[in-house]
Amino acid sequence: MEFDDKFEKVLFTQEELEEKVTELGKKITEKYQGKELLMVGVLRGCVTFVADLMRKIDLPLELDFLSVASYGKSAFTSGVVRVLKDLSEDVEGRHILLVEDIVDSGLTLNYLLNYLKGRNPASIATCVLLDKPYRREVEVTVDYVGFDVPDKFLIGYGLDYAQKYRNLPYIATLKNKITKEE
Ligand code: IMP
Ligand code: MG
Repeated sequence: MEFDDKFEKVLFTQEELEEKVTELGKKITEKYQGKELLMVGVLRGCVTFVADLMRKIDLPLELDFLSVASYGKSAFTSGVVRVLKDLSEDVEGRHILLVEDIVDSGLTLNYLLNYLKGRNPASIATCVLLDKPYRREVEVTVDYVGFDVPDKFLIGYGLDYAQKYRNLPYIATLKNKITKEE
């Protein structure tokens, strides 16, 4: 895909992403030996990551999705998390791996962790591709992290800006845009 004038630069290439996802898949495979996983992707940003990651995990697993609203059309957090689509599976007694594209304030992940813990899973862990740890508003445990990233608005590989750019095969920064709108 061509760069347009909104792009700043590529942060992670397709190859770098593949290498990292492979590494995460190996770690998860080792950690959950003898167990069955229920991967829960947080729509919509997770789709590319979860699709690639699940193929790097050598375990019996199932896949489910949740959809939440945390951002509107603009690129800043409202702090409000709403579940728009709930799980299809019963999670009681299961080993959940919650998969997110990026953790920023931590509000979404923290909310979903509490929400899922209330349904008595056997265990629950979190896996995010990208992390902005210096932006946390609530403390949240991230068990598997791909990359720590700078305070830039990121697009591609599932991540959107106003619902666009999810189809870029790499991750790029948007020009003149930090995470929070000022
Ligand atoms: P949090 O609740 O503040 O941790 O926000 C997490 C959600 O915000 C992620 O699931 C993303 O959908 C979105 N988000 C945070 N930073 C970015 C970014 O740089 N680009 C695109 N989406 C982002
Ligand atoms: Mg998201």
